[in-house]
Amino acid sequence: MSGGEWQVERLAREGGAVERWTILGEARRNSLTMAMLAGLRDLAARAAGDRALRVVVLTGAGDRAFCAGADLKERARMGDGDVASFHRALREALGALEALPQPVVAALNGAALGGGLELALACDLRVAAEGVEVGLPEVGLGIIPGGGGTARLPRLVGLGRAKELVLTGRRVGSAEALAIGLVTQVAPAARLQEAALALADRLARNAPISLRQAKRALDGGFDLPLEGPAVPGVSALGPSGKKADYCNYATKPGAGEIELSAPGGWSRDGSGRRPTAPRRT
Ligand code: COA
Repeated sequence: MSGGEWQVERLAREGGAVERWTILGEARRNSLTMAMLAGLRDLAARAAGDRALRVVVLTGAGDRAFCAGADLKERARMGDGDVASFHRALREALGALEALPQPVVAALNGAALGGGLELALACDLRVAAEGVEVGLPEVGLGIIPGGGGTARLPRLVGLGRAKELVLTGRRVGSAEALAIGLVTQVAPAARLQEAALALADRLARNAPISLRQAKRALDGGFDLPLEGPAVPGVSALGPSGKKADYCNYATKPGAGEIELSAPGGWSRDGSGRRPTAPRRT
């Protein structure tokens, strides 16, 4: 399936459905256009209601860039009002991506710069090909990161390191990005997609409701005090407040709502059968 500036592949993987979303803009280094952001918002809206979808992998076409930030050629044709609209569209699209109930893995097939790194930061996990460069070079261009990078980067690497990166605007190679926690894994370029899908499989093999609720608890609870109420709307016991709820709930493809499966175990396929012993990788 491909629509506009995105290619969407639905992959039936062992752990459940995984989708790979690829930015189709290799000639412009997958830079961000208004059409591409509208496409991302539509994809996120659809995925948010898709209970069978376990994990999304987001990547770019080719091997030069994951995303080179705002499309500077489109930008050159814009007036001030259009630029403001672009920034609003950028924040909305990245917010919708970040708010997806499913985990999203960014597969950095090439450079992720400016809005391109902000796009990667709105994902949950980042796997980079060896040799790619990432950075927020905006201050050198007379602007500042406008897509949430100044808020998301410090949460990932700490305020001091984020200040160093944003205020210098310097680019970081994949090895340093791994060392500072900006990416969680580096793979040889030829094996990047395989590595990202293997990680997606590792996530998708887990109990589906637990996976979504754990993401919600992490995002919602990150900056809450340790004592006090739990993250609003997320109970460690599951939706009904009963023991091991998350283990007893399964997501059935096609069913609008979460359904209770046979007691004793969640099922990957909605059959209610207990899964075979989990693999450890
Ligand atoms: N917007 C629009 N077009 C872009 C672009 C962008 N952000 N970045 C690259 N391109 C275009 C180039 O203009 C060029 O087009 P052309 O073939 O019509 O001349 C084409 O992509 C290839 O660019 P090139 O620089 O030769 O590619 P590369 O593979 O050697 O390097 C990058 C890729 C991403 C490392 C490099 O293009 C780059 O550093 N771009 C700037 C990114 C940036 O500063 N973004 C922050 C914006 S706030």
